[in-house]
Amino acid sequence: MRAILAVVLTGIASTSAAADVGRGERLYGQWCQGCHDRLGPTRETMPGTTPLDARYQGTRPAALVDRNDLTPEFIKVFVRQGISFMPTFRKTELSDAELDDIVAFLVRKQPTK
Ligand code: HEC
Repeated sequence: MRAILAVVLTGIASTSAAADVGRGERLYGQWCQGCHDRLGPTRETMPGTTPLDARYQGTRPAALVDRNDLTPEFIKVFVRQGISFMPTFRKTELSDAELDDIVAFLVRKQPTK
């Protein structure tokens, strides 16, 4: 009994460890991809990818899914505060747990330290 309680409490304490990459990918598709998808023959400009492409000039991939330098803190600041015409995402529309899933999806390619 005590062991079960410990497992439950550990699960609550470490929500980010329980973040779900698959759910994050779906949420990313729902909330972010419409502006941040990769550029391609049928998508010559994207509202988020195109300005990032201009900013980084090829020094970093323009599409967020191809980046390997994103940190959870960096992503969360932009999502909660917005930038340029990227909207602010409120917790009532995108919860902290859902944002953790999106973060887990976006940082899945990070080199492990
Ligand atoms: C309405 C379009 C739009 C949507 C939707 C959107 N973004 Fe953005 N995003 C932008 C724009 C525009 C920028 C700023 C580009 C610039 O620097 O000029 C940006 C910048 C960012 C950056 C900063 C990247 C960098 O290197 O500076 C991150 C991280 C980011 N967005 C994540 C997200 C995530 C995660 C979501 C979904 C929850 C999302 N965005 C949804 C348009 C959007």
